[in-house]
Amino acid sequence: MSDYYRKKIHSDDLIATFDDVLILPGFTNFSPIDVDLSSTLGKYHFKLPILSSAMDTVTEENMAINMALHGGLGVLHRNCSFERQLEMVRIVKRARSFVIDGEHVATIGPNAQISKAKFMMENYNISGILVTNEENRVCGIFTKRDIPFFEHDIKNGIVKDYMTKDVISIKPGGTREDALKILYESRKEKLPIIDEKGMLKGLITKKDLAPEFPFASKDDQGHLLCGLALSPRFPDSSQSQALLKEIDDYVDIFFIDVADFYKIDDITGTIKLMKFLESDFVLGNIGTYQAAEYLITKADFVEERFIGLKVGMGSGSICTTSLQTGVGAPTLFATAHVADAIKDYNPKLTLIADGGFKNPGDLPKAFAAGADLMMSGHLFAGTEESPGFIDTIAGRKVKVYRGMGSKEARTSGYISDRYVEGSKMLTEGVSNYVPYVGDVLGVLSTLKEGLANGMIYAGAKSIADMKKVPLGIVSVVGQRETAPHDLIGKF
Ligand code: IMP
Repeated sequence: MSDYYRKKIHSDDLIATFDDVLILPGFTNFSPIDVDLSSTLGKYHFKLPILSSAMDTVTEENMAINMALHGGLGVLHRNCSFERQLEMVRIVKRARSFVIDGEHVATIGPNAQISKAKFMMENYNISGILVTNEENRVCGIFTKRDIPFFEHDIKNGIVKDYMTKDVISIKPGGTREDALKILYESRKEKLPIIDEKGMLKGLITKKDLAPEFPFASKDDQGHLLCGLALSPRFPDSSQSQALLKEIDDYVDIFFIDVADFYKIDDITGTIKLMKFLESDFVLGNIGTYQAAEYLITKADFVEERFIGLKVGMGSGSICTTSLQTGVGAPTLFATAHVADAIKDYNPKLTLIADGGFKNPGDLPKAFAAGADLMMSGHLFAGTEESPGFIDTIAGRKVKVYRGMGSKEARTSGYISDRYVEGSKMLTEGVSNYVPYVGDVLGVLSTLKEGLANGMIYAGAKSIADMKKVPLGIVSVVGQRETAPHDLIGKF
């Protein structure tokens, strides 16, 4: 990039944002099929560099599951109790994983009656139950096919006389491919995981192994990745601390979620949380080089679990922070500045550009400015998978989308510390409607194409290459010209 443009985009006094810039076309020496959109956050891999915001009208369990299934990540919001957060993270972690943990596998004792086994299968809607003794040692499997024909036998028979004793199983730690092979060769539907001592450790079912979601973001056990927003405040009560510990067992990445993280109280609270919890942390939001420099070099975070910075302040479509306080660091500006600090002090950190994305073409711009991942609330609030109902306004389907600093969101009481503590009167967000846009897969597919096509025009094969492409400031007249113009219809 020429120094002239580089200096402009990175200058402290020109606060440029998405519509102010364009990427210059570059030489494309590869085929469209070779474009690689994958990115990382610490040790986690994403096939799609896209995250949904931790907002109560955007990401609850349904959104989180679907974002992870399609290769991104949905960050669960924090405008609720720890009990509700625990419920959400449990649902996400257990969804679609190809292994059902031992404690959740339906089992029955060998001396139980057939009628009980039949009742369990009908009620849990499953086709078979593992038979285990008091020590949890597997002694057989009883499936629908083992149910005797005569009513009399169903009533009086006991499981051990009808079960299959020779159980085909897999050892703990077996891969998806190992499991598929055994299931295929044995023509079975269920594959128990049994250790050397004969103890039941889990269950794999053929249906869960089906590769419906080849891009899913998963942990090394095959469970979906789970991200959760957290206040930087260390909880006071021992009950809350215990709940948080339990939440920690399910979460991969905590996202410290405040409007402006460059505050000493938030930093010290987060350090305490990091020492108390074991999962990884993304910190944010920040907006300047100086903030990133301070957090990376001067704050005493647990280094190996501080994996990313989330940036942008005032760009959100529901955000009024800049109007209300006069302070802001629009996402593109914040990305360029924090990317410089990350390059200077810790290139291993991941940068997440958060808020302000309106069009698919904004994604390539964020990556060109230095982001590794992007986050949006606006683009996902109108989908099927966001919380809330579909409403109709003037014949148009809509869903509510609200800022976490809006009056409506803040009355819950859980989120007041996202802004300035003690400030009660000043809202920093609004609540409104967005068009209903169908399912999240449709939105992700459009974003994916916008990003991929932008990368192809720019001549960048990967997100890492994208960081090197030239970005320039567009004049106001130029901005007008890049949108449809001089036509009769309305846009
Ligand atoms: P959007 O996708 O442009 O609507 O921006 C979403 C981002 O705005 C979120 O990921 C948050 O970082 C931020 N945000 C959420 N609620 C508020 C608010 O009420 N005021 C300011 N920023 C907000």
